[in-house]
Amino acid sequence: MRPLIAGNWKMNGSIASGAALVAAIMEQRAEIDPGCDILVCPPFLAIRTIGDLIQNSPIFLGAQDCHKDSEGAHTGDVSATMLSDVGCDFVIVGHSERRANHQEIDETVLFKAEAAHANNLVAIICVGETFDDRQNDRTLSIIENQFNGSVPKSSVSNNTVIAYEPVWAIGTGLTPSPMQIAQVHDFIRELLKKNFVEAEAFRVIYGGSVNPDNSKEILSINNVDGSLVGGASLKSEDFWAICKSV
Ligand code: PGA
Repeated sequence: MRPLIAGNWKMNGSIASGAALVAAIMEQRAEIDPGCDILVCPPFLAIRTIGDLIQNSPIFLGAQDCHKDSEGAHTGDVSATMLSDVGCDFVIVGHSERRANHQEIDETVLFKAEAAHANNLVAIICVGETFDDRQNDRTLSIIENQFNGSVPKSSVSNNTVIAYEPVWAIGTGLTPSPMQIAQVHDFIRELLKKNFVEAEAFRVIYGGSVNPDNSKEILSINNVDGSLVGGASLKSEDFWAICKSV
């Protein structure tokens, strides 16, 4: 399947820096197709501008979160309906920073993913263990619980991507070994098989300190169908190098 390389800009940059970033990526992408789908997920306030800039390019547009409801009295929130209205294709839900900073539980993530599906958005549903979980041999049970609690029954391969992001690997420069990544990705594939007929067609992507130096090795692991890139997605050369390493 065609891998997905997704850039999660988090709460970084300005409209101008985001515009420059996508301009540089579009320029490279116009020359060659690196063989992957490329997605950028800017902060909410930059989505509209970035969306206009990439409109006629093969780059996809995504958001970093959505509310479960389509409208209503939810001060400061943004709905999946609104994201769809401004041209988003994807939305990340259940990122560990949302789970930790906004007390999101699996059920919250499930409802957000359902809202994404109802609005024709692809939900990138994040799961991952903490360092403490890994030290105490709880990695697979945590992944299983998060998967069962956050992946909706409405999931099909073209509306859902599962992102494995070990919490301890995010923004730390630490990554699991290729064997550890393979173990979790194989396990997620088995969970997909238990629940969905077209399990083999879902993309399962890895995130956590992916950079141009480790991306080739990580992306060559069985059942790794792309990556969710944070820090390295803010530099066009690094992000493009990761796309090309597919
Ligand atoms: P990182 O972030 O690449 O900076 O580790 C990944 C993510 O949180 O999606």
